[in-house]
Amino acid sequence: MKILLATEKPFAAPAVQEIKKIATDAGHAFVVLDKYTDKAQLIEAAKEADGIIIRSDIIDEEVMAAAPRLKIVIRAGAGYDNVDLDAATRRGICVMNTPGQNANAVAELALSLMVFAARNFFDGTSGTELKDKSLGIHAYGNVGRNVARIAKGFGMKVFAFDPFCPAEVIAKDGVIPVASAEQLYETCHYVSLHIPATAETRNSINRALLDRLPAKATLINTARKEVIDEADLEQFMADRQDFKYLTDITPGNDAALKEKFPKRYFATPKKMGAQTAEANINAGLAAARQMVSFFESGDEKYRVNAK
Ligand code: 3PG
Repeated sequence: MKILLATEKPFAAPAVQEIKKIATDAGHAFVVLDKYTDKAQLIEAAKEADGIIIRSDIIDEEVMAAAPRLKIVIRAGAGYDNVDLDAATRRGICVMNTPGQNANAVAELALSLMVFAARNFFDGTSGTELKDKSLGIHAYGNVGRNVARIAKGFGMKVFAFDPFCPAEVIAKDGVIPVASAEQLYETCHYVSLHIPATAETRNSINRALLDRLPAKATLINTARKEVIDEADLEQFMADRQDFKYLTDITPGNDAALKEKFPKRYFATPKKMGAQTAEANINAGLAAARQMVSFFESGDEKYRVNAK
């Protein structure tokens, strides 16, 4: 089989070498396309591929249509909103992710952004500490759990809301479960987003929810830009001079937010939550192993689309 590693944002070199070794040791051909700038390059590279490993790279109907041999797409990472799952199902293509593999890296960045906010973007003025502050984790999945673990080390009081995670599972980690997003936002100085981008969550972080935040609140987004109602956020930042927003995913209104709220708004220059050597190795190698196992035995563990 021919396996393509297509990453617009490249993995660290040791991860690429190991992915290649796993693929070629199993007898597969291996091709890398990284730092590409044009969708046409991805389409060209996908033409001969039986399997594609990606990060946030967009695999839509057009890419799949250009890849008649394609049997599997593995998203080396957690969120798979960049793959058209329905199109994949229609074409008999299996889509997988590698859950949990880059969670610690994203969680470390979330806490780093909290410290950065608390210390006034390192501008030399007197800031605050995270100790004894309340943190609301919005969705208690793999990243949320890691955020809770690290935040407890900082001495934060940690709350979580997740309609899909039983309260007793959250409580077992020494985290206080709350019954609604509204309650989470009312309670917490810091809120850290860990919800996926789905039809239900798009634009769900809106004015009604933001209005619940207490004075001097900070919202941290290492999840997806699509979950934010950007117009509501911009207006809320204008109305609430005490509120800070830090994100790892550049919003559509980045220029306006930068210009209007330079001391309360920060976006990383490129999404970097999972951009560590460790996360690249964990997620990349997991993807390579899952792909080899799929071709060897039809193993579809971690499949995320319908058959
Ligand atoms: C994920 O969903 O795993 C993270 O958002 C990381 O995405 P990336 O691989 O594009 O950095």
